[in-house]
Amino acid sequence: MTVTQEAAPVSHYDRIGGANAVKAAVELFYDKVLADPDLADYFATVDMVGQRRHLALMLAVVLGGPNEFDGRGLAEAHQPLGITVEQYALVGGHLSAALTELGVPADILADVQAVLAQVQDQVVAAGTRPGA
Ligand code: HEM
Repeated sequence: MTVTQEAAPVSHYDRIGGANAVKAAVELFYDKVLADPDLADYFATVDMVGQRRHLALMLAVVLGGPNEFDGRGLAEAHQPLGITVEQYALVGGHLSAALTELGVPADILADVQAVLAQVQDQVVAAGTRPGA
């Protein structure tokens, strides 16, 4: 007799270790951002406790975990800041580096990078995009 077992779908969020893993990634990510002279000024007056919390909640959603995000939309939070494509790429690089350093598997990293590409136009200031 053959027994077929339903494979329980495991989210990226659970695969990397849930809330604690996301928190560790966000900590490492913002440490890198704040150490980057091309980005640090943006965060000089930002409440980094709230900032880390918001990004952790957003990253949880992106990874298929619980949706408890209670912050503003990406466009609303970022459009007034005048962020350029170059700065966006730097931030994306720091996030990828943080996830890689923490041992996040390549397929999950690729999915996060795909989301970064999708939301770029919400974050980068319309006025700084060529042709926008
Ligand atoms: C890569 C994609 C990005 C994601 C997913 C992201 C995510 C977030 C989130 C969730 C918030 C909090 C929103 C709120 O609840 O108010 C936020 C705020 C902020 N982000 Fe980003 N961010 C990204 C890129 C960037 C970049 C490239 C910069 C600057 C170079 C930046 C600078 C800021 C600043 C300064 C705030 C605080 C704004 C304020 O408090 O008025 N972000 N971001």
